[in-house]
Amino acid sequence: MDIRFEKNTILKEKPDFEHLGFGKYFTDHMFVMNYDDHHWHDARIVPYAPITMDPASMVFHYAQETFEGLKAYKTEKNEILLFRPEMNAWRMMNSNQRLCMPLISENDFIEAVEALVRIEKDWIPSKKGTSLYIRPFMFANEAGVGVHASESYQFVIIASPSASYYKNGLEPVKIYVEDEYVRAVIGGTGNIKCGGNYASSIIAQSKAKQLGCDQVLWLDGIERKYVEEVGTMNVMFVIDNIVYTAPLSGSILPGITRDSILHILKDQQVEVKEEKIDIHFLMEAAHDGRLSEAFGCGTAALITPIGELLYKKQNIVINNHQTGHITRLLYDILSSIQWGESEDPYGWTRKVK
Ligand code: PLP
Ligand code: COI
Repeated sequence: MDIRFEKNTILKEKPDFEHLGFGKYFTDHMFVMNYDDHHWHDARIVPYAPITMDPASMVFHYAQETFEGLKAYKTEKNEILLFRPEMNAWRMMNSNQRLCMPLISENDFIEAVEALVRIEKDWIPSKKGTSLYIRPFMFANEAGVGVHASESYQFVIIASPSASYYKNGLEPVKIYVEDEYVRAVIGGTGNIKCGGNYASSIIAQSKAKQLGCDQVLWLDGIERKYVEEVGTMNVMFVIDNIVYTAPLSGSILPGITRDSILHILKDQQVEVKEEKIDIHFLMEAAHDGRLSEAFGCGTAALITPIGELLYKKQNIVINNHQTGHITRLLYDILSSIQWGESEDPYGWTRKVK
């Protein structure tokens, strides 16, 4: 792919890398590519700037939009690593297929990400736990208010130097179990990454906030009984030393972190059950003291211990608000691969040269 580069003549002052937060600062450039007449064209890296769009652009009305999230990590040797970017490329193809949007090949997706990362390498913070969060997204921009697949699209990649999603890193968070609203049903869009899924989840997220919780744990959309995932992460529970996580049944996002953790757990000889988790089974296990750990996992959140669950006014404290043994082990193994501190026996990291 030919990528034209238009250098920004006014470079921004870098933020304080010690106090980044998540997704608040953006680099000097962005990758942009357009789709018209059935093909992608004009791949370019240009100064980061607002996008001008027709008010009738279809994304504003019918939300034909998909996105991805991955990170570039800086190692102690100043190398730059991406983590399983081919999985993001694959997932975006899947998302696009579901929303009748054009595909981008794995090669082009990775080439575009790498080209931007190379240009923005000075924006990658190096402290463990911080990285350059990369956000590829695509939207329909044909002007018209009839409901059909757009004929024009834009694919954009922006990047943001960030710390972990939850401000306290490996500190346990408090999660609200939502039993009124639902996130997804099988056959819907819960297993792809599109903005619409998040738009409909914000109301529950605000409820969680009001109740003093950090995030929402979603139950299945039909019986409101089986635990699915958290708003920004997949979720796992340790009961009697077995790790339970919801199966990829079609209504949860197939997380890349989830998949990586399942590989690591297998190699650590920890028993895993990918099966439907009844919220009552979980509550009972908590009451009996058998629920020893719970954690969420995702690119932005990495591995986030869950210290408390709130379900129908019942508060369950997990492991006395401490980070459990398996949670820490997984954090250590995964984060040391991502930040290049240890060998990568899985071949998951990819050097950006
Ligand atoms: N589930 C949801 C709803 C998410 O937004 C994310 C984040 O991307 C995940 C799970 C975790 O996916 P991944 O590990 O690929 O980042
Ligand atoms: C990610 O982990 O990359 C996500 O996309 C989560 C996000 C919605 C902040």
